[in-house]
Amino acid sequence: MEPGEETVARGEGDVNLSPRREAYVAQHLDAAAGEILAADARWFFRQSLSTPCLDVLASAHGSRLVTTSGHRLLDFHGNGLHQLGHGHPKVIAAIEQALAELPFSPRRFTNRFAVALAERLCGAMAEGPWKLLLAPAGALAVSTAVKLARLVTGRHKILSFWGSFHGASLDAISVGGEPLFRRGIGPLLPATEHIPPPTRGRCRFGCSDEEHSNCLAYLAYVLETEGDFAALIAEPVRWTTVELPPPGYWRRVREICDRLGVLLIFDEIPSCLGRTGRLFVHQQLDAVPDILVLGKGLGGGVFPLAAMLARAAFDRFPETALGHYTHEKSAPGCAAALAALEVIEEEDLCTRASRLGAILLTRLAALRSRFPLVREIRGIGLHLGVELRQADGSPAVEAAEAVLYACLDRGLSFKIGGGNVLVLSPPLTIPEKELEEALAILEAAFEEVSDTP
Ligand SMILES: Cc1ncc(COP(=O)(O)O)c(C=O)c1O
Repeated sequence: MEPGEETVARGEGDVNLSPRREAYVAQHLDAAAGEILAADARWFFRQSLSTPCLDVLASAHGSRLVTTSGHRLLDFHGNGLHQLGHGHPKVIAAIEQALAELPFSPRRFTNRFAVALAERLCGAMAEGPWKLLLAPAGALAVSTAVKLARLVTGRHKILSFWGSFHGASLDAISVGGEPLFRRGIGPLLPATEHIPPPTRGRCRFGCSDEEHSNCLAYLAYVLETEGDFAALIAEPVRWTTVELPPPGYWRRVREICDRLGVLLIFDEIPSCLGRTGRLFVHQQLDAVPDILVLGKGLGGGVFPLAAMLARAAFDRFPETALGHYTHEKSAPGCAAALAALEVIEEEDLCTRASRLGAILLTRLAALRSRFPLVREIRGIGLHLGVELRQADGSPAVEAAEAVLYACLDRGLSFKIGGGNVLVLSPPLTIPEKELEEALAILEAAFEEVSDTP
């Protein structure tokens, strides 16, 4: 296995199939919760990353999850949708009002919520005009983006990065690059090609300059010599393992795409709406895409809602069903999104994400000097990664899981990315007191794991 590939191989998230899960269940679940967990296992298909489940939730408010057995956890995971924390009162009120007014908006009709949301999102984009389509899941919006790119260019190939994630549907895993999702499924969507990502410090092309010129040259080579590419789809920041792009990288990619007539699709499904310190991540990266995919927190952390924004000039296919999803223009969903955007602005959550992210980065750097296991701290806004490696440089997968469970025991939940990166993604609304609480838990967990031979 080559440098940088090991995280790609382990892919998304942490796995619950572990003896530590059983120890957690024995310690934290009362009899009633144990029964619900057993019933869950009876009815739900097992699948990696989520089932069998860990615990049974009773409530989620702000940064906090509370289980039916009374265990309280700070939620630094939230499936990447809780920019506003769980159950923000303005989002709930907006949903309740829309539910009372227009619980469902059938195809052929529109509604004031959908139109206001479209205007708001498209209006926030540079280099307008823009138009959009809504979808009830991120993967479905990615699908729409791929279809549109093919139609607009008249070409069929899509280029993407190994290790990337764009959703769990068959077309999304085809453009995605995570073995966990692709392996054993059989033939995937044809004409989806992949190249290695430009991972800082560990890239496959041995780039020695900041911009990763060798990576860029390879990308241009593939697009140019292979030809027939409709689009390059990418997460502007590799989310699961918190890999920041090389400086100037996306500006250079934008130039290559422009030169070759290839569309640039940015998947900002988990990273949009303030988490990184701006409404959209690409605003920090010096490149405006041709198609932008948003999701997760777009539904205010409550409703399943995603969007595909694209340049208005691409609106040339009235005879084609680009999206056509049952819940496309949900009034409660759009009301939730409008409320979320309003809260982000009113509470200045972009600035808050940058400020708290900087504090967290400094505090985590202090962990690095205390615990040799901590190899690197990376972050953008309030999305941070703590990479764990053994003294010989190998990924500290076992230790990462031990730290996770030591934190779960003490009341902090987060995700492990790529097997050895602790991914900390708290609500942007988190009170500083709770941030301190989480840091204290993390520190205690590291002490416990470092003391264990
Ligand atoms: C980068 C990225 N793209 C796409 C998706 C898929 O979104 P959804 O689960 O809403 O289909 C996700 C979800 O985790 C994601 O992180």
